[in-house]
Amino acid sequence: MSKEEKYKTCIKQIKAVCEGEKNLIANLSNIGAILSEAFHWWWTGFYLVEKEQLVLGPFQGPVACTRINYGKGVCGTSWKEEKTILVDNVHDFPGHIACSEKSLSEIVVPIFKDRKVQMVLDVDSEKEAHFDNTDQIYLEEIGAFISNLL
Ligand code: SME
Repeated sequence: MSKEEKYKTCIKQIKAVCEGEKNLIANLSNIGAILSEAFHWWWTGFYLVEKEQLVLGPFQGPVACTRINYGKGVCGTSWKEEKTILVDNVHDFPGHIACSEKSLSEIVVPIFKDRKVQMVLDVDSEKEAHFDNTDQIYLEEIGAFISNLL
C-alpha cells in the first residue's frame, strides 16, 4: 500500500471510530493508535496547550517529557509559529528537546480552534528524513478533522 493509501485508510478509520464520540481524550487516544499501528513510527502523540505550556496527552511510544514551554523544542516552536514543522535531523534543530535518543526526524502539526493553537500532533521517527510533504498534507487533514471535534 502506498503512503497516500495508508493515510486514506487511516482517515476513514479515524472518522468511523470518532463518530458520535465527544470525549477528546478517547478520540485522541484512538487517532494516535490508528496512525501508530499503520505506520509504526517511533513515537506518535499529542501535546495539549495549558496556559503557557504544552502538556503531554495521549501517545503511543516510549515515555516522553511531560511539559514543553511556549517556543521551546520543535513542538513549542510549531505552537509559537502556528505552522507545521518538519525536521529531517533533530540534531540540526537548535533547542530540540530529546525525549529519546533514538528519535532522529520529526513532524509537528498544530491543531487550531478559533484561530488559536489548542494542541500539537507530534510524530517522531528513528529514521532520518522520514517525513515529507505527503505526511504534512495528510497529518494536517487529520488535524483539521480534530479541530472539528473541539
Ligand atoms: N522532540 C520534541 C519533544 C517531544 S518528544 O519528541 C515526544 C520537541 O523538541 O518538541
